[in-house]
Order: sequence, then C-alpha cells, then structure tokens
Amino acid sequence: MANAKLALNDVSMVFKTDGQEFTALAPLDLEIEGGRFISLIGPSGCGKSTIFNIVAGLQPPSSGKVLIDGRDATGMIGQVGYMLQKDLLLPWRTVLDNVALGMEIRGVPLAEGRERAAPLLKRYGLGGFEMRYPSSLSGGMRQRAALLRTLLVDNDVVLLDEPFGALDAQTKASMQEWLLQLFGDFGRTVIFVTHDVEEAVFLSDEVYVMASRPGRVIDRMPVDLPRPRDRSLVSTPRFVAMKKYCLDLLHGAAAPAEAA
Ligand SMILES: Nc1ncnc2c1ncn2[C@@H]1O[C@H](COP(=O)(O)OP(=O)(O)OP(=O)(O)O)[C@@H](O)[C@H]1O
Ligand SMILES: [Mg+2]
Repeated sequence: MANAKLALNDVSMVFKTDGQEFTALAPLDLEIEGGRFISLIGPSGCGKSTIFNIVAGLQPPSSGKVLIDGRDATGMIGQVGYMLQKDLLLPWRTVLDNVALGMEIRGVPLAEGRERAAPLLKRYGLGGFEMRYPSSLSGGMRQRAALLRTLLVDNDVVLLDEPFGALDAQTKASMQEWLLQLFGDFGRTVIFVTHDVEEAVFLSDEVYVMASRPGRVIDRMPVDLPRPRDRSLVSTPRFVAMKKYCLDLLHGAAAPAEAA
C-alpha cells in the first residue's frame, strides 16, 4: 500500500527484566489506509497497549519503524492522538478546560481552545456540563470528554485503548453509536483496542486478531458492512458469523484465513 496513513515495518518489542528476555511483540508489519476504523482484539498481555505506546512514540521499539504518511515517525511524540487505557480527566479542571487541555499542551492558548471546544461539547452530548467537574459526571460522560479531548488535537491518526471497557452494557452501546457518529464527522483514522468482539465488529472496517506468547497478529478480518451502522446489524447472520469467527480465533479453534 503506497499511500498508507500508518505503517509498522518489522516492529518488535523485547523487554529485558532480571536478565530475562520477554518478547511482548514479535516482528509486526501492518499498513492502515487513511480514514479507516481498525480494531485490535486479543487476550490480556498480547501487546495491544505496547503497539500503541510504540506508535505514539512513548516506547522505542526493539526493532523496526513506524511510518506516518510514509515518513519515519519512530520514537516521535505528538504525531498521533492517544487516549490511554487509564485515561484520566484532571479533577481540578472543568469539563470544558479538560477538553481544551490537549490543544493547550500543543500550544493553543486556553481561551482559543475553549472557543473551539465549546460547540463540540454541545454537539456531542455534553451541552450544559461545560462548567462541571469530572467527579460530578457519569462514566459515559467522562469518556465523551476524554475522547473529545483526544480528537480535538488535530492528528489524523487516533489511538483509543479500551475507552468503553469500564462502562455498563447500556452506556457502552450508546457510546459506540456516539463514537460512530464522531468517526463519520471527523474522518480520522482510528485504531481501537477492545476485549469485546461484538464492539470490534460493530465499529470497524477491519479487525486484527492477536495472540500472546509472543504477542502477534494472527489474522485480519475485513468487516464489509455498510455505514452508517445501527444496532439491528448485530443480529444479522453476517454479523453473527464474523463475531463467531473472531471468537473461534481467540479461543484457538479456527485456523486463520491468512497469515497476517
Ligand atoms: N515496561 C515493561 N517491562 C516489562 N514488560 C512489559 C512492559 N510493558 C509491558 N510489558 C509486558 O508486555 C506484555 C504486553 O503488555 P501490553 O500492556 O501491551 O498488553 P495488552 O495486550 O495491552 O494487555 P491488556 O489487555 O491487559 O491491556 C505483557 O506481558 C506485559 O507484562
Ligand atoms: Mg492494554
């Protein structure tokens, strides 16, 4: 793919602890086209967050390169938007100022950041909560604020590490629809980590299935379901078949269609 938005070339991660080597990520090649929604699923410890830390430039890989728009971005921070697995809003800042924070860190004056954030808070379900503090919001609302903060930093590539992992099923479902709307509006390239196979299939254009010891991608499943998507999709035979395929792979029951 000559025009990949994000490419990993032979990226691996070996940790050394007490003289022992541990391969968290076996050499990985991957290419993601701009504007796509990709999910990574896999057991705990298979290296999902490690991939994100490498792409975000927070962790230098043991080997290989990260390319964004074909340019070497290995070890460079600030090239992608990243919502960490344990993302926290600052408790002493209002929702509005939390959402403006990502821009502020990139040098946008707070007043301007607030001006840009305010209409988005209204549009994306946080209208009326701008001056509240995170502790007085529901879990879903906190995640909305954290996601908007990540999206408002103008990076084409956005990494979301289990943003809905701690939410109850109903809140999670409404957050997925909210995220799909945002994805349609913003046109970013999203990589999304989840343990929830249904969530991965529902949101994505492609699902990467990973395995551990060593961490690696074992298959790439295209999700050729039309957009916009709504909840009724999840009970269609094609959706159910794709979900089953991923679950079987995760449980080691299915042979991958291709070596990824
Ligand atoms: N700094 C580190 N030093 C040593 N080992 C590490 C380090 N960071 C991660 N690991 C190990 O690398 C492996 C992959 O970790 P990673 O956090 O990427 O997994 P994950 O797929 O995100 O898991 P989870 O689903 O639980 O979030 C794990 O076995 C972890 O213990
Ligand atoms: Mg993780």
